[in-house]
Amino acid sequence: MKQLSKILVAILLLSNTLLSAQNRSEAEIDHKIDSLLALMTLEEKVGQLTLFTSDWDVTGPTIRANYKNDIQSGRCGNIFNAHTAKYNRELQRIAVEETRMKIPLLFGYDVIHGYKTIFPIPLGEAASWDLAAIEKGSRIAAIEATAAGLHWTFAPMVDIARDPRWGRIMEGAGEDPYLGSLIAVARVRGFQGDDISANNTMLACVKHFAAYGAAQAGRDYHTVDMSERMLRDQYLSPYKAAIDAGAYTVMTSFNEYDGVPATGNSFLLRDILRDEWGFKGFVVTDYTSINEMIPHGIVANEKEAGELSLNAGVDMDMQGAVYYNYLKELLKENRINMVQIDQSVRYILRTKYLLGLFDDPYRYSDEARQQRLLLAPEHQEAARDVARKSIVLLKNDKNTLPLSKSVKTLAVIGPLADNKTELKAAWSGAGEDQHSVSLLTGLKDKLGNGVKINHAQGCDFEGTDKSGFKAAIDLAKKSDVVIVAVGERASMSGEAASRAHITLPGVQSDLIKELVATGKPVVVVLMNGRPLAIPEIDAIAPAILETWFLGTQAGPAIADVLFGDYNPSGKLPVTFPRNEGQIPIHYNMKNTGRPMDPNNKYTSKYLDSPNTPLYPFGYGLSYTTFTYSDIKVNKEVFTPREELKINVTVSNTGKRDGEEVVQLYVRDLVGSVTRPVKELKGFQKMMLKAGESKEVTFTLTANDLKFYNRQMNFTYEPGDFELFIGTNSADTKSRKVKLVE
Ligand code: BGC
Repeated sequence: MKQLSKILVAILLLSNTLLSAQNRSEAEIDHKIDSLLALMTLEEKVGQLTLFTSDWDVTGPTIRANYKNDIQSGRCGNIFNAHTAKYNRELQRIAVEETRMKIPLLFGYDVIHGYKTIFPIPLGEAASWDLAAIEKGSRIAAIEATAAGLHWTFAPMVDIARDPRWGRIMEGAGEDPYLGSLIAVARVRGFQGDDISANNTMLACVKHFAAYGAAQAGRDYHTVDMSERMLRDQYLSPYKAAIDAGAYTVMTSFNEYDGVPATGNSFLLRDILRDEWGFKGFVVTDYTSINEMIPHGIVANEKEAGELSLNAGVDMDMQGAVYYNYLKELLKENRINMVQIDQSVRYILRTKYLLGLFDDPYRYSDEARQQRLLLAPEHQEAARDVARKSIVLLKNDKNTLPLSKSVKTLAVIGPLADNKTELKAAWSGAGEDQHSVSLLTGLKDKLGNGVKINHAQGCDFEGTDKSGFKAAIDLAKKSDVVIVAVGERASMSGEAASRAHITLPGVQSDLIKELVATGKPVVVVLMNGRPLAIPEIDAIAPAILETWFLGTQAGPAIADVLFGDYNPSGKLPVTFPRNEGQIPIHYNMKNTGRPMDPNNKYTSKYLDSPNTPLYPFGYGLSYTTFTYSDIKVNKEVFTPREELKINVTVSNTGKRDGEEVVQLYVRDLVGSVTRPVKELKGFQKMMLKAGESKEVTFTLTANDLKFYNRQMNFTYEPGDFELFIGTNSADTKSRKVKLVE
């Protein structure tokens, strides 16, 4: 029997090589998978449902001895955190030469904003509102990662995040479902390309399903509690958009939804994901999230946890070894069934086929390709391009910026002025400090010897030490202009990096105040992974640039903007509050029955803070100015069969060419359930030459006005709508229209 199955496996593998994955029909793929399944032992099947981590040592990648044995015995079919062409080739060799079934391993890794060339953090890239540039960033990340042996990225993270205390806000596209959905699609396309069988495209993994971004009080891993209406209306659309765009995999989230952890939640994983959305790929857990259902208090032990998650629709267990340890027993006890196991194995084998791993398991492990592609010059150019586009000009009194290249002396101050380590930010793949270009270097490269650049750190990120202030202030006094680069350490955002206070940490604000007091023009360059509450800096600094963490090409990109070689065009994808007490604060809130009236105490407001944010969603200045005409519509009253055309003329009224993101918002004035005061429904990013005017047209139909009505059906309702067009969510012109049946 053993001999026979060996021969059958050999025949099967040979026949696989005759057809490329791309050309196979679904029926052929099913046939191959059925043939494999028929030969697999239960242990081997569970192996395909198991994902273990590799480690990374100073000497390079390593794998624990027991995991290596598990690969050899077919009990571990997937590995994450192993990378580099050479190392992954070796692990793959074990899988395809030393195991009985010779099924290739799938290699996953968190390629979130670049592999070796690091792009801006996703929240920063979202500020570009440039879908093509974002797609290109993910495309290049995939080109580099696949050259380093990887098949699968744990990205994009598409969790809507409305709480800046939550450190993982840096990994997503911000607060808005519409912008978030378009960016989710761009990222999936970038990673997966249009042919997943090509050796430079990789599987995307939409995460974290679902609603992880709504962790209470912004504390990571905390409880999520929201109505189904809120979930469907605001939180689900980016996941759905990514799946509609063809994302092959989905990761569950750590949080609970409606009292049931997402990893055991069949409402999310079966009813919505599989039945409503028709998802055909596989579902992986987050790191040990099956096991974590014990402290959640929904199961008493790991065995029950495995039963709950398999029955709920989880296909692959990341690192928890629960499937590995308990599925066999659970099957014997009829608490799960073979049909479910086979179905999960099928989903996973199918992606391995589609990647072409059965044709050539080593096709992603080519050292020459890796050598050629990592950090390629065109990747640096693209990283610099999107980095510039991600920068948001928050304040620019008296045209402090752009700086003149004829400036004689420049003081470059602050803990982030000559720093390479932090620019990569959290989740920086295989990025290395040595490849990042600091702001100081970027400025020196741009300005050459003609400008004297003085540098002092001034202070650290944290602590109370002001002993460096004097040297910094002395330098400032001797310089024509002061650039002060302040913000957060990379480790202050990302996973497990929530902050209760989202101000500038340490004594950095004091440093800025003392620099401003010198009377020199001070430009504040912020680097951070979340919105910061900085009203006292906004009150005194003449110019503020939000640069997030821009990655490998941060220095040159910021220098381009500071000296006017690039006119900033970024717009905030998330609201910046004045203080933590305003959180949650986002532009698309509800009106309430007592909307704020400054003359009436009994309306919705604070005694000690304005309601308005420091900088609203969609906000960002330019070195030029834009004006908007009144809104024109082709009809005031339209039916569900008609298109509403909405026009404005936007004029560049300044002296420089510049790009503007023209934003369209809608409010449904009366609904069967209450609707947000504004919802983004369209935007166009356009270049306008100095003095130029352009007409912008948006088209809306009734379909764009759909929401979950009182009966929880996704539909539009006839009635009055208010349209808003403007340069950000708070500065708009408006006009009413009516939808009739
Ligand atoms: C994170 C995921 C990540 C996984 C694997 C988890 O802790 O929540 O986003 O993909 O680790 O590294």
